[in-house]
Amino acid sequence: MARVALVTGGMGGLGEAICIKMAALGYQVVTTYSPGNTRAAEWLSSMEQHGFKFRAYPCDVAEFASAQECIDTITNEIGPVDVLVNNAGITRDMTFKKMDKTNWDAVIRTNLDSVFNMTKPVCDGMTERGWGRIVNISSVNGQKGAFGQTNYSAAKAGMHGFTKALALEVARKGVTVNTISPGYIGTKMVMAIPTEVLESKIIPQIPMGRLGKPEEVAGLVAYLASDEAAFLTGANIAINGGQHMY
Ligand code: CAA
Ligand code: NAP
Repeated sequence: MARVALVTGGMGGLGEAICIKMAALGYQVVTTYSPGNTRAAEWLSSMEQHGFKFRAYPCDVAEFASAQECIDTITNEIGPVDVLVNNAGITRDMTFKKMDKTNWDAVIRTNLDSVFNMTKPVCDGMTERGWGRIVNISSVNGQKGAFGQTNYSAAKAGMHGFTKALALEVARKGVTVNTISPGYIGTKMVMAIPTEVLESKIIPQIPMGRLGKPEEVAGLVAYLASDEAAFLTGANIAINGGQHMY
């Protein structure tokens, strides 16, 4: 039986590439979309035309009840989740001076609480079955901080604290937990940055002189999910074109 890989936010730039890569490797790929997403059916049919038969379920990753219900449905209709990729995320960029509590909460809830919300309903099953992979998509900006991102940098740094602590707890049970910290990847999240800021402040900081490609991150997710990566846990792997080395 094919392993079940659940990728949150699979209809976004990075998530789609991860879904495609995992499907190409033979996983049964399941994804989530936010309840307000009106293009889910269209996305699924366009993926099917490209030969990818994904399953997709509505889920607000920021809400524990929604996450629990989504995982219950997936478990009943498809089977237990073997690989969880916590990928869904948002930005609400603004200087701290302008940031209000609403924009702080939105990013912490969607990017950090979501990791608890999605992992909690799958983790016990993974340890009981003696095999599982959890991959958390953080960011270079969680490692180094970013102008205009106190909320996002805090949430993304928090993800790796979670990774390290949970990795310790499940290490003897065949379950690995890792963080990937991508640099700037050419998706709509990055295209929302004002062009002038992107060209004058961000690209010049990337030694490779270009944005990353979603497929480059997807390849790393696939490796972390594989049997070959069984000894790799609690790590934070940077993939950022040389922008931040530590
Ligand atoms: N570094 C240093 N200075 C910066 C800067 C940066 N990255 N970004 C903006 N500034 C400076 C501007 O040059 C400007 O300086 P002056 O007043 O001297 O002209 C000042 O800050 C104010 O800039 P804005 O006029 O743009 O102010 P604003 O309030 O309208 O917007 C902002 C501020 C929201 C931070 C906006 O500049 C912005 O969106 N910056 C990009 C933030 C960013 O990098 N987000 C990453 C999104 S992608 C992502 O998050 C994925 C990932 O994980 C990598
Ligand atoms: P994106 O294209 O904007 O996709 C984000 C995805 O998150 C969308 O599929 C969206 O679903 C989903 N999402 C947002 N809020 C949600 C919610 N409350 N519940 C469920 N799903 C929700 O962004 P991306 O660039 O692919 O980013 C994917 C991940 O990589 C994010 O965690 C981001 O922080 C991280 N990252 C990105 C970069 C980059 O440079 N692009 C770099 C480092 C890290 P809907 O479309 O259904 O709304």
